[in-house]
Amino acid sequence: MSAPHVIRIGLCGLGTVGQGVWKHLDHASAELESRLGVKLEITVAAVRDKKKKRTVRIPATKITDDPIAVASDPAIDIVCELIGGTDVARDVTLAALALGKVVVSANKALICKHGAEIFAMARKHGGHFLFEASVAGGIPIIKSLREGLVANRFPLIYGILNGTCNYILTQMEEQDIPYASVLADAKALGYAEADESLDVQGWDTAHKAAVLTYLAHGVWVQTEQMVVEGIDRLTPADFRHAATFGYGIKLLAIIARDFATNELSVRVHPTLLPESHVVAKVSGVFNAVSVKGDVVGTTLYIGRGAGQDATSSAVISDIVDAVALLRNDRRAFITSRKEAATKGRPLGDCRLAPAEHIRGRYYLRLTVKDRPGVLAQVASVMAEKNVSIASVIQNRADRPDAASIVLTTHESNERAIQATLARLAKLPSMVEAPLLLRIGDFAD
Ligand code: NAP
Ligand code: HSE
Repeated sequence: MSAPHVIRIGLCGLGTVGQGVWKHLDHASAELESRLGVKLEITVAAVRDKKKKRTVRIPATKITDDPIAVASDPAIDIVCELIGGTDVARDVTLAALALGKVVVSANKALICKHGAEIFAMARKHGGHFLFEASVAGGIPIIKSLREGLVANRFPLIYGILNGTCNYILTQMEEQDIPYASVLADAKALGYAEADESLDVQGWDTAHKAAVLTYLAHGVWVQTEQMVVEGIDRLTPADFRHAATFGYGIKLLAIIARDFATNELSVRVHPTLLPESHVVAKVSGVFNAVSVKGDVVGTTLYIGRGAGQDATSSAVISDIVDAVALLRNDRRAFITSRKEAATKGRPLGDCRLAPAEHIRGRYYLRLTVKDRPGVLAQVASVMAEKNVSIASVIQNRADRPDAASIVLTTHESNERAIQATLARLAKLPSMVEAPLLLRIGDFAD
């Protein structure tokens, strides 16, 4: 019997994800070899600090600090970019694609910023760029959108896309503690980005929303074209107030397209969801993605959204797809079916929905001086901006001589609520900047 063909893998990055890929590929090597008919060999791993202690045992001869050399090595078939960031990661990715290699990436920030350039490079040189681990950790959402749901157009995709934030929000809700105390746990568990502000300020979710938008609609929406708000201003009191209205709070990405007007909106913000909603019950590091297709109806995907094991599972699925590509089993790999239709215009046939077309109900928390007439001033601003109040709760605030007013509104729109917010912020009685949250009214 002849020895199996060897596929050589270069890992660029050997941190949380890289070490997970090493560990699980090692465990599964015999099984994968018999199923694929090839031997998968991690030939080399690039790191920043060769002296750093790793949790996996790797021969020193396989470690380098030159990721570009890995990407450019003609003996390497598959390059896994698991470094993160958008500088070295971009150089590594483009160098490998320029040689027609397959690049496997978990890097949503890179795809959001340089996706158009990366896919163009892959097409030009016959390489492939696979990115299952970039969105929703271990949930195969990329494959689902690209392959399983290929018959559909997608009027609405929404969900929890950041494990760190969902872990923090769950702890805040259940343990009544501020977010900063939980962040360190999320970092220790390997969920957070190297720069954790990407998680808590909503940018990581926005990067993932950009990747899903590209897959679903074939267009690149940049983070500046989205509403992006994070969880860093939420307090445990917001969870108590939300609960009195019957809601939980989740950081959601919402990608909505009206196919009648061709208006598209991409938003990331903390959202009040009815406690009975299935996505409101998704806790800890878990992600949930609801995808409404015009043919299939609504489908829902739930699973671990971050961490070493979940993410390695997704990276290894791409490595297996890469083997198939290298053996020419699936030459016509579907990237985005709408891509051709954009004709060089970044938004193709879509246009961004104007703020007044983005409708919804809102939650406002106002910390005000505890003086006569303040509630009347607030009500007057709301009336002036034509935003109708649905309910009001007033409590003592956590600071002296201040009250916390929590309002919910009837349906309004982004333009009106932002104008209201700007006007409220200028009231002399306002002690801190008002906090705005959206209320999610999803049929399913
Ligand atoms: P990490 O733990 O910080 O690991 C980064 C790795 O890259 C480290 O091994 C580091 O080397 C190496 N590195 C950094 N700069 C380098 C350079 N200039 N040259 C060579 N190596 C360099 O990050 P991670 O959590 O594994 O994340 C990696 C990627 O996966 C990111 O794009 C992230 O967004 C994405 N991702 C992460 C998760 C997760 O749950 N952690 C989930 C999905 C996607 P040293 O070890 O020597 O410092
Ligand atoms: N920091 C990211 C998260 C990693 O917490 O979801 C997974 O992409």
